[in-house]
Amino acid sequence: MSDGVAIEPARALRGAVRVPGDKSTSHRALMISALANGASRIEGLSPGEDVASSARIMQELGAKVTRDGDVVHVSGPEEGLRASANPLDCGNSGTTMRLLTGLVSAIDGEHELIGDASLSQRPMDRVAVPLEQMGALVRGQGERVTAPLRVRGRAALRAIAYRVPVPSAQVKSSILFAALNATGTTSVREDVRTRSTTEDMFRDAGIDLESENEGFGRYVVLQPGRPKACSWSVPGDPSQAAFFCVLGAVHHDASIEILNIDASPERTGFVGVLQRMGASIDFDRGARHLSLTSSSSSLEATEIHSSEIPSVDEVPVLAVAAAAATGVSAFRAMGELRIKESDRFEGAMELTRKLGCRVWSDGDDFFIEGLASAEDFVRFDIDAGLDHRMVMAAAVAGAAGAGCTILGSSTVASSYPHFFDDLVSLQ
Ligand code: S3P
Repeated sequence: MSDGVAIEPARALRGAVRVPGDKSTSHRALMISALANGASRIEGLSPGEDVASSARIMQELGAKVTRDGDVVHVSGPEEGLRASANPLDCGNSGTTMRLLTGLVSAIDGEHELIGDASLSQRPMDRVAVPLEQMGALVRGQGERVTAPLRVRGRAALRAIAYRVPVPSAQVKSSILFAALNATGTTSVREDVRTRSTTEDMFRDAGIDLESENEGFGRYVVLQPGRPKACSWSVPGDPSQAAFFCVLGAVHHDASIEILNIDASPERTGFVGVLQRMGASIDFDRGARHLSLTSSSSSLEATEIHSSEIPSVDEVPVLAVAAAAATGVSAFRAMGELRIKESDRFEGAMELTRKLGCRVWSDGDDFFIEGLASAEDFVRFDIDAGLDHRMVMAAAVAGAAGAGCTILGSSTVASSYPHFFDDLVSLQ
């Protein structure tokens, strides 16, 4: 990776940012609209490359996708989507590949799914296992079924009752997409509640889906059906808001407003973590959306369990908050971090070690002894690999502390192309 960016320490940070449309909602809006018969409309779609991969693939499968300013129009063919002779290129996007594997499992024919170097190392066995139980054939490389994948889809899959063995909204959603075309009732049980984006959006599109909470988990039951065309409005992405929330809290002279993000509880766990650490975060809560204002604070260490932030997307930047806190923070049960766009378990430890912290791990737990203030961070260089969230976490640490140089910074475009512009706009 040669594309580097230098981040200088920010003297003061003031203003408001509008983070991109939620990535999870954006992928699903495209896929559900492509499956529907007729014209759907999506407002506020994420401008990132991950979502663009989903859009291109929906076209490849027969949907029409056009953009008109901030609105994207999707037209699903009356006869339904059909297999493409071309490989379906998911780029850097795990959500595209995992949801799509479920979606094409229910389309007759052969499908080839490919991805970039990072995505080609990520395990797809977690979706291959349930989809094969439903009657599709999902073949990849090695034991963990990595891409390139070959999927043999069948228009009539078998319904299953499946307990997802890892907390994963992607696995749950992959099964639910396949189940739209199964014969009979599919049920999915998760032991830890993950984001309900698919369930909520399927219901909005007229699918007969019921879900109930069970302890910390959830039980979802779906009847097959075809989604109806809809008009979607995509809220801001809370996982992107997390970067500015931490930046506001750890910088010595900051007040940053983050406008209009998705307020679902499975997505906003990081706010509770930061408040517990002593962060001053004010809310303006609407029915489904939330605006936050995060201001300079003195932070205390805390203990964070992965079930509080089930997709662990916010952990790299919470590690930066821990580095600026007083005391030792414990990050518990963080094994899923190892199989994201990069090994974020090692990445979060490397980043905070470079800031000057004492950092260690024990199994799936890791610990950071904070420096009590971001003003004590050391200037650092880091290679973010192909991981957008590591780029942004490093940029937050650099802007709040003593600056940094990030190699591989252009990968930020996969989810937040204007991230650096937004960061500069606050200074
Ligand atoms: C996502 C689920 C999460 C998350 C990813 C988006 C989704 O992954 O990390 O950024 O849209 O379903 P897992 O399901 O692997 O936790």
